[in-house]
Amino acid sequence: MPGHVISEVGHVSLRVRDLAAAEEFATNVLGLLVSERSTDTLWLTHGGPHHTLSYTRADEDALDHVGLVAPDAEALAEVYKRVDSAGLRIVSDKPLDPAVSDGFAFADPDGFVYAVYSRMARSKVASPTSGLRPRRLGHFNFFVSDPRRTERMLAEIGDFRISDRMLDGVFLRCNVDHHGIGVFPGAGRIHHVAWEYPSMIEVAAVADLVDARGESVLWGPLRHGMGRNIATYVLEPSGLVQEFYCDMERIYDDAGHVPGEWSPEGHKWVSLWGPHLTPDGFTELGLPPASRG
Ligand SMILES: [Fe+2]
Repeated sequence: MPGHVISEVGHVSLRVRDLAAAEEFATNVLGLLVSERSTDTLWLTHGGPHHTLSYTRADEDALDHVGLVAPDAEALAEVYKRVDSAGLRIVSDKPLDPAVSDGFAFADPDGFVYAVYSRMARSKVASPTSGLRPRRLGHFNFFVSDPRRTERMLAEIGDFRISDRMLDGVFLRCNVDHHGIGVFPGAGRIHHVAWEYPSMIEVAAVADLVDARGESVLWGPLRHGMGRNIATYVLEPSGLVQEFYCDMERIYDDAGHVPGEWSPEGHKWVSLWGPHLTPDGFTELGLPPASRG
């Protein structure tokens, strides 16, 4: 089949204990817009798609699912076929979200649920505010018990390609962005979700906003070695880390790209500009996959 079967990371759906705090943070700090709400769920967008983030009131803070976008119905059908023949568990034969009119969802061996679809309605948010708003949802990072297994699954099911490695950690891409998904060794969690802003000016402005609220960012700004994005990280009320970044490496020579092998020695893999090392406890943050009965 021509082309790759996944073209974008689409959205992240969370379960949260404090829905009001989640909304306050996502709208006031990240600058997302409320696209639709029900009694217990809130769908937010950066603009364009109906939603790129959603929160559902629950008795746990957890990842419900992540969304992957197939470019068309043919690619979607191919992903379903591959998931099925890999023996992965189909969680739903129907879309999990409103405004999505095709697709299905499956669970991986770590319990992470992926919703795959090709058609999501556009957001009807009429008049965006003049505030800071991300350009797009860029990527998410998982910590899993066996990164090589997840890496193989993403390659086999979704045609993800390897951009860079550091020991068992890997960044995979599904389009020209250096990474759409990062997979690193650790206790099964989604560690962060990352939003692309136009430039370092907006990244600094979001950090200034965090400071003006009397809060602090967790880390950054720094320029990562792997991915070259200028990144800053902040903790949202649910316990998930949110990254805001700009200027990520893009890989246009898809077939010719040779994955980099980064050394864990020193700081270059994580911070090109200086010895700006990961803060204590940073890698223990994030949310586990939701419990499903
Ligand atoms: Fe990231």
